[in-house]
Amino acid sequence: MATNRTFQGPKGTRDFYPPEMAIRRHIERVWHSASVDSGFEEIEGPMFESLELYTVKSGPEIVSQLFSFRREGGEDDYALRPEFTPTLARMAAVKGKSLALPTKWYSIPALFRAERPQRGRLREHNQWNVDLIGTTGASADIEVISTALLALERFGLTNEDVQLRLSHRGLVARILETLGVAEDRLVDAFQLLDRRDKMEDADFKEKAASLGLDDEGVARFDAAARSTARLSEPLSTLAEALGVPETALEDLAELREGLLAADLADWCVLDIGIVRGLAYYTGMVFEIFATQGVERAVLGGGRYDQLIEIFGGPKLPACGFGMGDVVLGLVLAEKGLLGEDGGVSLLPRPDAFVVSTCDEADAGVEALMVTLRRAGLHARRSYKSTRNVGKLLSDAGKCGARTAVILDQAVLEGTVGLKDLDGGEQVTTSLDQLADAIALLTGKQGA
Ligand code: HAM
Repeated sequence: MATNRTFQGPKGTRDFYPPEMAIRRHIERVWHSASVDSGFEEIEGPMFESLELYTVKSGPEIVSQLFSFRREGGEDDYALRPEFTPTLARMAAVKGKSLALPTKWYSIPALFRAERPQRGRLREHNQWNVDLIGTTGASADIEVISTALLALERFGLTNEDVQLRLSHRGLVARILETLGVAEDRLVDAFQLLDRRDKMEDADFKEKAASLGLDDEGVARFDAAARSTARLSEPLSTLAEALGVPETALEDLAELREGLLAADLADWCVLDIGIVRGLAYYTGMVFEIFATQGVERAVLGGGRYDQLIEIFGGPKLPACGFGMGDVVLGLVLAEKGLLGEDGGVSLLPRPDAFVVSTCDEADAGVEALMVTLRRAGLHARRSYKSTRNVGKLLSDAGKCGARTAVILDQAVLEGTVGLKDLDGGEQVTTSLDQLADAIALLTGKQGA
């Protein structure tokens, strides 16, 4: 006889019961609305790709986190997607020259990374991707950035809660070159900068020295990694704060002006320590962090002008970002923006909750449910056998129903009680007009 055993979900994955699912749907609704209102169109790709798609250009960190596999008896290597950008670049490359420019795509894929699970890091997460293909220049960057900020505003966050940390790989490269880092070591230096916060001082210094820096160079490299400046400051002040000539900031000048003009500069700070771990970024890079409470980035993105060409497509510049639901959920919960009840208040509220208080009325309940639902109403019923109206209605309260429909003997004459559970009033209405009366109370007329 088989023994019973219980199973847990794999390490670093989540089960979504209805309240958690309600939070997830709330997050996705805002992501969809911010994307669509900003003119992005939704796409999707496969959950797994050829392993090579990730080993070509994503960088060693992500490759070390791949869930890769080979079909039993097969010869091809695949990996569950750890990020969406390679799929998007592949899809753009396939369309090639037929792609309308600019192309504005968004997607909300589930992604898989074999990371050590911890607060803000799981092995499966959902990530909102927004990407604009086919234009260079600050105006495309600003459109992408403003879409991210639009969503954060719609969640109820302000520029006191979150901050966009902005940098430019061109600027960081110039700083590194003045410090004496050779061009062919720049990618290593970027990776080191990206990991700076997670490293011990001694380890950082040793790795920085291995890039060819002397003691003074290492100290200046470290100081540069920690340099930040407000975007609203003039460029000359920014340059001074960063210890570089003003010309080193020219890559950022247009972007800074655009962000100021769009009234977004107050959300942003220039941070030389932001270079991003992924290898394909070529210009502007940014991350968004909560100002307190949650350490990990809510979002990361930037410009990647060569990836589509690397995947065999035309020379098409692109920029975009990914915002993860795990870190975002932590930030929203910390700010009380998901309600205080773990998602229960985000569950859809029924328009009507039907209860029957006598045997004669029981027989008509199913037919009434069908009628109400056909009228476009979210209708639920009690499955309890008690005839106590108070007990029956307690379930209506628990699921947050807007109205209760109370069936008793009068239903044989064609009337029912309709109680407004928000206002408390109860009226008698004919069965024929019940759906209209509920729609009037719940604002669902014409549903
Ligand atoms: P990323 O920085 O690797 O960028 O991920 C973006 C965001 O996804 C992170 O800031 C974080 O919120 C979330 N995230 C990443 N890994 C995990 C994880 N293991 N658990 C929970 N959340 C996670 C990219 O993936 C780029 N492909 C984004 C992009 C799109 N760049 C241009 N277009």
